[in-house]
Amino acid sequence: MTESLGSLRRTHSCSALTQKDVGSTVVLMGWVQRRRDHGGVIFVDLRDREGITQVVFNPEHNPKVHEKAGDIRSEWVIAVVGKVVARPDGMVNESLFTGQIEVMVDELRLLNRSETPPFLLDEWAGVSELVRLKNRFLDLRRPQMVQNFVRRHNSAQCIRAFLNANGFLELETPVLTRSTPEGARDYLVPSRVNPGLFYALPQSPQLFKQLFMVAGYDRYYQIVKCFRDEDLRADRQPEFTQVDMEMSFVGEEDIMAISQNMMARLFDEVLGVKVKTPFFRLTYAQAMESYGLDKPDLRFGLPLVNVTDIVKDASFKVFADVARSGGLVKGINAKGCIDFSRKEIDDLTAFAAVYGARGLAWIKVKENEWQSPIAKFFSDQEKQALKEALNMEPGDLVFFVADVPKVANEALGQLRNRLGQRLELVKNDDFNFLWVTEFPLLEYDDEAKRFVALHHPFTAPMDEDLALLDSAPLSVRSRAYDMVLNGTEIGGGSIRIHNRNMQEKVFAALNIGPDEAEDKFGFLLQALQYGAPPHGGLAFGFDRLVAMMCGERSIREVIAFPKTQKAACIMAGAPSQVSSAQLAELGLKVR
Ligand code: AMO
Ligand code: AMP
Repeated sequence: MTESLGSLRRTHSCSALTQKDVGSTVVLMGWVQRRRDHGGVIFVDLRDREGITQVVFNPEHNPKVHEKAGDIRSEWVIAVVGKVVARPDGMVNESLFTGQIEVMVDELRLLNRSETPPFLLDEWAGVSELVRLKNRFLDLRRPQMVQNFVRRHNSAQCIRAFLNANGFLELETPVLTRSTPEGARDYLVPSRVNPGLFYALPQSPQLFKQLFMVAGYDRYYQIVKCFRDEDLRADRQPEFTQVDMEMSFVGEEDIMAISQNMMARLFDEVLGVKVKTPFFRLTYAQAMESYGLDKPDLRFGLPLVNVTDIVKDASFKVFADVARSGGLVKGINAKGCIDFSRKEIDDLTAFAAVYGARGLAWIKVKENEWQSPIAKFFSDQEKQALKEALNMEPGDLVFFVADVPKVANEALGQLRNRLGQRLELVKNDDFNFLWVTEFPLLEYDDEAKRFVALHHPFTAPMDEDLALLDSAPLSVRSRAYDMVLNGTEIGGGSIRIHNRNMQEKVFAALNIGPDEAEDKFGFLLQALQYGAPPHGGLAFGFDRLVAMMCGERSIREVIAFPKTQKAACIMAGAPSQVSSAQLAELGLKVR
């Protein structure tokens, strides 16, 4: 049997009462986190969004209420009226904000019962993520989750306040639209009134925010859902949130300045962390050369070293062949790691293989010799050159990958991150921001057998590389930039093309002919003919940003109702089958 709330109202949250409230009568409401029976006295940890207060049912104080409290169980919802008392000496709980007091209960109302929950909220560590997601409404009650979502809220409010103060307008863009290519598959929505036609959910508001600039709105932002049907990972969800921005009459410096100032404000206000501005910068070429990735984690060193020239004539055929056929041979010195076991090296070899490496050569540097399966293939001269290039000192362990540039860079770049973790060179409360600039405009898509835009097709090429667009398209750099935090790409943007001729030229380089361009992007091409201002912008991955601010590895920990690896919401049961009537109305048939 449960009781009604009636006119009873809370006087405090469960994280409000301290020593100075001793003596006052209070009303608290919340969930029973724990109930402990101590020799007749019942202690309950009462929890709400704000925190926990210990409430006490003492038979000597009030026998009737004590008897009633005998029924209550975990996650029941109760209201208590009682007096704040100081905890006896030795019973103070320093780790709890309310730990100096407890509430001696005079009246108890049972507002609602709960089934025995599938897991206890303070003993969830071993609970599988599937169980948590299936019971997300319970999982979200956990104090850690509440903290994450309060932080998410605070971050959104801070960003809004910052952008409002800097003249940005918060404007909305359509969700049922024609798709903007950002490199992923589209989610499609069939149109009932236009049988056979489909909307696409936006992969980002890219074209619409550019049209706001054409329309003269000058500065735009939106905290907005984006939809991408791509293979999911810890930092990817099919629907995710961007902080999306666009500005007129600016160059990259202006956008980078406002974005990094926004980050500095956000980290200061929400985390109390002072971030140094301006952020460090690397060009894409520098990042790839020294770290093998376009989003290097600069919390630690361990740079990659290009030794292609040194080994091109070595008698180790694997290296020499790769070096002579346009590939790369790169090494990384894991300082002081000579004690890595054979098994550990095998594990790292398997790890590198995930990124396509066909092997992982290694050298252990001893006092007077190298221990290595490949040392015998190098001349003294080559050894000396390797030693200098890689700063090899006794005690070191050096790894090499020889392959096409893409594989050599990625495999060693990822190995570098793994070594950074293994050697405990990274601290989670260390925030290292970085800009990566001068990305290539295009890359070659082996599957599609054509050039694709590295960022998106609306990104402007660098003026000084324009002449290369016809002759050497892969050498053209773009005016794109990414913001990287601790090895994660948290945002990216670019200066846009703002005249029709240039946009058509870039479409042509992407193998998008005039007809296709007109069909897909006619509205953009037209808008560019009516006085489009120079403009550019950037979008942050808000989930990734908040996850890092919460010290979480997965963005699912900061998305209230996320999807699983198979893009499903197992709680609501989405996606689901629909009735044949619904399908018929849409003119669809499921095969
Ligand atoms: P981009 O595609 O780089 O740029 O996306 C911007 C940022 O969004 C985040 N992100 C994701 N987060 C979670 N799950 C995903 N599936 C996912 N995909 C991307 C990343 C990324 O840096 N319109 C351009 C921005 C611009 O040019 O202004 C865009 O969408 O953190
Ligand atoms: P093998 O001659 O195949 O026995 O290889 C000798 C060593 O070179 C082993 O440690 C391999 O892991 C390594 N190795 C083989 N291919 C490559 C490669 N492409 N890049 C780096 N190391 C390699």
